[in-house]
Amino acid sequence: MNRRPFVAGNWKMNLQASTALQLTQEVVRTTGRHRTVDVGIIPSHPFLAAAGHKLEGTRLQLGAQDLHSEDGGAFTGAVSGPQLRSCGVRFVLVGHSERRHVFGDDERIVAAKVEAGLRAGLDVMLCLGETEAERDAGETQGILEQQLSSATWKLQGEDWSRLTLAYEPVWAIGTGRTASPEQAEQAHAWARNWVQNHVSETVAGALRILYGGSVKPANAAELMAREGVDGALVGGASLKADSFAAIVSAAAGERS
Ligand code: 13P
Repeated sequence: MNRRPFVAGNWKMNLQASTALQLTQEVVRTTGRHRTVDVGIIPSHPFLAAAGHKLEGTRLQLGAQDLHSEDGGAFTGAVSGPQLRSCGVRFVLVGHSERRHVFGDDERIVAAKVEAGLRAGLDVMLCLGETEAERDAGETQGILEQQLSSATWKLQGEDWSRLTLAYEPVWAIGTGRTASPEQAEQAHAWARNWVQNHVSETVAGALRILYGGSVKPANAAELMAREGVDGALVGGASLKADSFAAIVSAAAGERS
């Protein structure tokens, strides 16, 4: 199965209105020529609408970092799927480890957010990953399977075509410690096997699984060369257009 690589930059709670728009423009300029890779940027909520305007007529996809599980109403401070959609957002992250560990998004909330994203017509990028203690205890496979099953048990066949997974080991996020290519390949295989056994072989074959956690130009190519690693979800290195563009080039198979 030939899966199209996807590289997305999660800007987290960084940048200001002017620098976010500047970076948006630079990403368009430096990655817009790629025809074989899907590229996405994921700015903070206040910058989404303006970034969406800058992306009009380009092939870049706009993503959001989070959404509320309800579609609207009295939820002060929250942002809904339909609101994101109205700003030009195409996909939304759900279950990022910072949401799970800092904001307390538990498995029930993650599942409700997956559903809310799909209901709003957004693609969903579901993030999974074990902590260092879980890895050390040999629990990684079980954790990934648990996260996958609890987040997707309500999905219908068609929903799966709008889901992407991002394997992000918690111990590799923002630490400079990347999973080895072997560790990434194994975790992706575990996740894909679970989908093959619990959903279908066709869905598992088509599902893109990105790796995230200290991806940089220096390690992107070897990670994405691995079987079943279909791209990257990039944090820190996505805040500079040149390093993000180098990772996109690596996904396209170009040598930098
Ligand atoms: P870093 O690339 O900064 O480790 O962040 C990874 C991440 O959390 C992307 O969602």
